[in-house]
Amino acid sequence: VPADVRELLTSRIHDVPDYPKPGVLFKDITPLLADAKAFAVLTDVLADLAEQHGATKIVGLEARGFILGAPAAVRAGVGFVPVRKSGKLPGATLSQTYDLEYGSAQIEVHSAGFTEGDRVLVIDDVLATGGTAEASVQLIRRTGAEVAGVAILLELGFLEGRKRLERALAGAPLDVL
Ligand code: PRP
Repeated sequence: VPADVRELLTSRIHDVPDYPKPGVLFKDITPLLADAKAFAVLTDVLADLAEQHGATKIVGLEARGFILGAPAAVRAGVGFVPVRKSGKLPGATLSQTYDLEYGSAQIEVHSAGFTEGDRVLVIDDVLATGGTAEASVQLIRRTGAEVAGVAILLELGFLEGRKRLERALAGAPLDVL
């Protein structure tokens, strides 16, 4: 990503200290979404990545990955498949459970979301522990689809998320903008 594009995007992401609880620095992307130019630039960057990686589908991770992934899919001319938190999808699903700091979480995808030979670019806003993205990669592979890569707007670098996700990707590209 060119320096001026990165500068535009990062300037529209606001740091909110102590949200949703004390000690947590929340990255608020709503100013970026509200800025037509910045949102369009981000959409173009993500759509370009989809094309570079030969993606035939884009997966967005609930909820903010939907907002970023859906326009990128339209721009890239590929379909969009949501990975949702448990219990929200009406059709036949595959699910994947993963550990949180306390307890566990479960995500799901429609098995019929992918067709033979699909190559999937996974899109989300933030990489923190990497647990959500790692579980998504595992989930998508279990459907028989290939993971063409993961693209994430920003990472909280003090966490070990990138290492964990790279291990799961096993050579497939990770782009953190
Ligand atoms: C956030 C973020 C990622 C995930 C990253 O979503 O949008 O999906 O957490 O964390 P991890 O790397 O530690 O897994 P959140 O669970 O807050 O869901 P939301 O977008 O529906 O609010």
